[in-house]
Amino acid sequence: MVSTRPAGFSTRFLKGTIMSSTTDRGRAYDLDRAHVFHSWSAQAALDPFVIAGASGSEVWDEAGTRYLDFSSQLVNMNIGHTHPKVVAAIQAQAAELPMVAPAHANLTRGEAAARILAKAGPAFAKVFFTNGGADANENAMRMARLVTGRDKIVSHYRSYHGNTGGAVVATGDWRRVPNEYARGHVHVFGPFLYRSEFWATTVEEECERALHHLERVIQVEGADSVAAILVEGVPGTAGVLVPPPGYLAGLRAIADRYGILLILDEVMSGFGRTGSWFAWQHPDLNPEGIVPDLVTFAKGVNSGYVPVGGVIMSPTVAAAFDERVFPGGLTYSGHPLAAASIVASIDTMTEEGVVEHADRIGREVLGPGLRELAERHPMIGEVRGLGVFWALDLVTDPDTREPVPASTIGALKKELVSRGYLPFAADNRIHVVPPCVITEDEARRGLAILDEAFAAVG
Ligand SMILES: Cc1ncc(COP(=O)(O)O)c(C=O)c1O
Repeated sequence: MVSTRPAGFSTRFLKGTIMSSTTDRGRAYDLDRAHVFHSWSAQAALDPFVIAGASGSEVWDEAGTRYLDFSSQLVNMNIGHTHPKVVAAIQAQAAELPMVAPAHANLTRGEAAARILAKAGPAFAKVFFTNGGADANENAMRMARLVTGRDKIVSHYRSYHGNTGGAVVATGDWRRVPNEYARGHVHVFGPFLYRSEFWATTVEEECERALHHLERVIQVEGADSVAAILVEGVPGTAGVLVPPPGYLAGLRAIADRYGILLILDEVMSGFGRTGSWFAWQHPDLNPEGIVPDLVTFAKGVNSGYVPVGGVIMSPTVAAAFDERVFPGGLTYSGHPLAAASIVASIDTMTEEGVVEHADRIGREVLGPGLRELAERHPMIGEVRGLGVFWALDLVTDPDTREPVPASTIGALKKELVSRGYLPFAADNRIHVVPPCVITEDEARRGLAILDEAFAAVG
């Protein structure tokens, strides 16, 4: 496209005016490259994909080319893009009352808390709303420290808990290392049989040894100094590391033995992604039916239509702040637009059976389909997951399990995008994480595209 702007004329103040772009990628791309600073990236090499609109499980670019969203954006678009009932609820709330200070009461906020507690179950009493997942974890850790009078938080090396001061240090991946300014954090390896740290050869061995390792670390750290064990319901960004049966019950038992609180981070695994409302409620993951003391959530609670997260508290944790001041708060805690989107989202997901649908798609389509792909493409070393929450662990050699290099992931992403599939990639993996509402036909189209892309790169 030819620019009609005078030379040196800034695009900054032209929002809403009709103008040509400086590149053939369009104004959205140009403005982004000129002025938007992106997360977790060296900025110069970025080449962002422009999304102009979306509906259900599809997004489209400015040319109107459609893509299946197998990323769910950041694994949060559980109800699908632009669901009319959620959009209408936000619009109605915006017209009626778009902001209420956190100290006031508001019906929509109360309804949102009640909806979340109804899904969490009778073991929980209250919800503290935050702006997203990181500050949910930040506040859950704060509550655990205040309730126990202890200091340390034990979390997994293979984990992500958010970008803020403490949450990023509770995180186990590379993002912790340049940000290590919070204190009182201890890490352990969780169970992951495919890349076992415990020389385990069976899932039972892996589970038992991971729990033994955790307990020994707690003992040598001084059990009296440990406030909480913080783990993801299913570690997501780390590779969809579905915990073996018995692991969650083992965590609960260790926590109880030493007076430690158990925090489950359900930011990614919650609200339908695993095929149950919360990962800890999934019968395959928690046949014993244990419950945590604190649960953190964000993402799928309203599919990110408005930024929000929160902490779900047991009655004991909630009551600890009946007489004592809780030293934490946020201007946007329980923001009405977020609350309205939560109410509409949970009601709609319930009415439309979205969580049951995600479970069925996982069992009948994605699980079998991805395992079939692994049989055809030796690069797929392991298929892990459940519901609409899957990872393909890609290797150069199935015997050594050597992770594929970044160049292979780059090539795969290119093949996928060129065929109309928007992927989610992390390290040596492709995560297959479409919206919970993905239709069977869309899921099969996605599988066929994956097949072609592996064949092209293989
Ligand atoms: C398990 C988990 N916890 C916490 C977070 C942080 O959430 P947010 O980015 O909303 O702060 C994420 C984000 O991906 C996550 O996956």
